[in-house]
Amino acid sequence: MDVEQEKRLAAEAAAELVEDGMTVGLGTGSTVRYLLPALARRRLRIICVATSPRTMRAASELGLDVRPFDILDHLDITIDGADQIAPDGWLVKGGGGAHTREKIVAAAASRFIVIADSRKPVDALHGPVPLELLEFGLPATLRRLEPVAVRTAPRSPDGGILADYHGAVEDPATLAERLSATPGVVGHGLFPPRLVASVLVGRGDSVERRT
Ligand code: A5P
Repeated sequence: MDVEQEKRLAAEAAAELVEDGMTVGLGTGSTVRYLLPALARRRLRIICVATSPRTMRAASELGLDVRPFDILDHLDITIDGADQIAPDGWLVKGGGGAHTREKIVAAAASRFIVIADSRKPVDALHGPVPLELLEFGLPATLRRLEPVAVRTAPRSPDGGILADYHGAVEDPATLAERLSATPGVVGHGLFPPRLVASVLVGRGDSVERRT
């Protein structure tokens, strides 16, 4: 299995979904890294919004028109990777720590397209589930989230503390509700199926599409 080829194929298939004049949300991660040149090659007139400084830099260097996400209130399409994809469409995202912005940009789009290699579909979601936490009251927040581990990595693009919930993910909806309701949690990496329009998975030398 050539994982890099699978990522590239999925990313290139997603780039073909973008049309002239669209507003486009750009995710973060190693699969999105293949999306950016594929989009740039198409030379479309599009306006992009990036989910991380990393993506913003890479996209701008390729000549894509990247704007801050404080003027637009809607996007036509968002394309992003995922860490896990469940059969019912639930996702775990945030391995790269950009999940709070990624959820905002996914939710703002008419169509959210997930791109992934064939290691990402799983039978059932499992931990770790990425979290972004406020620094204020951190020990009290962590106590409510046990078992949880704070990352040694840098903070999120918005200064949040990055951590991972290591407990069981039996029912993603129940866990998502619990995490969202925990004071101090700014965002979590569980993305519900209602956000997702299509999933493009690179498998060998082809792309599997799920809607
Ligand atoms: C970034 O914060 C993440 O949500 C990524 O989108 C996710 O981890 C997928 O990354 P890869 O494309 O590198 O696997």
